[in-house]
Amino acid sequence: MTAAIARGQGGDAPARLASALDYAVTPGGARIRPTLLLSVAIACGDDRPGVSDAAAVALELIHCASLVHDDLPCFDDSDLRRGKPTVHRAYSEPLAVLTGDSLIVMGFDVLARAGAADPLRALQLVSALATRTGMPMGICAGQGWESESQINLSAYHRAKTGALFIAATQMGAIAAGYEPEPWEELGARIGEAFQVADDLRDAVCAVEEIGKPVGQDVLHARPNAVKELGVQGAMKRLKDILGGAIASIPSCPGEAMLAEMVRRYAEKMTPGALSAPVASRV
Ligand code: IPE
Ligand code: IPE
Ligand code: MG
Ligand code: MG
Repeated sequence: MTAAIARGQGGDAPARLASALDYAVTPGGARIRPTLLLSVAIACGDDRPGVSDAAAVALELIHCASLVHDDLPCFDDSDLRRGKPTVHRAYSEPLAVLTGDSLIVMGFDVLARAGAADPLRALQLVSALATRTGMPMGICAGQGWESESQINLSAYHRAKTGALFIAATQMGAIAAGYEPEPWEELGARIGEAFQVADDLRDAVCAVEEIGKPVGQDVLHARPNAVKELGVQGAMKRLKDILGGAIASIPSCPGEAMLAEMVRRYAEKMTPGALSAPVASRV
């Protein structure tokens, strides 16, 4: 990622936008999507590590771009992201729009460059990432649901959050020379669980615990798992989904390793920490 950002800052680049590119991606958050992507690639043998690396970078760049745009006043109007002021707060709205745009383009450029090592896999990666980024079922679609009067919660979550998790599992498979289709379900299930966990954190965590504003789902009247199922119901749902995720892992050399990874991830994500006393908790 450092190399990609440095390329974007080269030549006669305008200094403030160049600085905003770096600000938007470092120090970063959990990097969960590229971690999942690389885990799948490794489970599938990872015979082209350079291509897997490019895929992981491209995916995280798109994710960071989506956060910059999501925080803008025309979407969630957020002041805080990853514990620091959002890009539009630190730089300006025009620069935040351009930062998001530049990171999206950069993500696809990283994949194009990986074409030198394996043109066919790079092309498949471009297509898989584009599908999960745009319309009709990528992040754009997910954000678009927020402008509808009637929302289908599962289509909304599947596109808003699930899409990039599906991209993670499918791109990991593609990068290692596997077919992407069997990997869709695992990504979808992890993504769904992740969104339920995010809804729980939004409802019951404190701002200093998660580095971004809380209570946003209620504030923006967004449909969410806690509203639909209650806190206990949402926690049960999280466990059920992750159990199904393990069962859906396609056969590959590192199947057992992946199952262990999802199990550990489930433990980390199932907010046992949620029972700790924080004044605002319900
Ligand atoms: C936040 O994603 C956006 C959602 C889809 C809920 P993450 O929680 O993965 O954000 P970072 O990258 O760790 O900051
Ligand atoms: C962000 O969703 C998802 C995308 C950027 C596509 P949210 O608005 O629910 O997530 P946070 O709470 O800002 O991270
Ligand atoms: Mg949002
Ligand atoms: Mg938001």
